[in-house]
Amino acid sequence: MPRIRFEPDGIEIEVKAGTTILQAAEEAGALLGSACGGVCACSTCHVYVNEGSDGLSEIDECEEDNLDKAFDVRRNSRLACQARLQADGRIVVTISPASRQTFFDEHPGLRRR
Ligand code: FES
Repeated sequence: MPRIRFEPDGIEIEVKAGTTILQAAEEAGALLGSACGGVCACSTCHVYVNEGSDGLSEIDECEEDNLDKAFDVRRNSRLACQARLQADGRIVVTISPASRQTFFDEHPGLRRR
């Protein structure tokens, strides 16, 4: 099964193949924002893939278009609701500062975590 680690908090979880990064984050309790609910209509689930990008689904046109709206997009940027973990192996992502901010905006009670 694929394994994913969420930085900067170091939260790690094993998930079934086909799970999106966003679904894995929700399962693990990682602080990843998702303003549109995971339907590729915003860019608040922006993450940086540090390791294991080969184990992720290909980027499609919708993801590309919405990534263009994100802040500080890099070559290893992905939208967590669109990128699926496909293969066994370990993936390490860093949740973008804007995505963490969205998470706290959505969950004000968790601001001090
Ligand atoms: S949660 Fe909106 S694009 Fe991923």
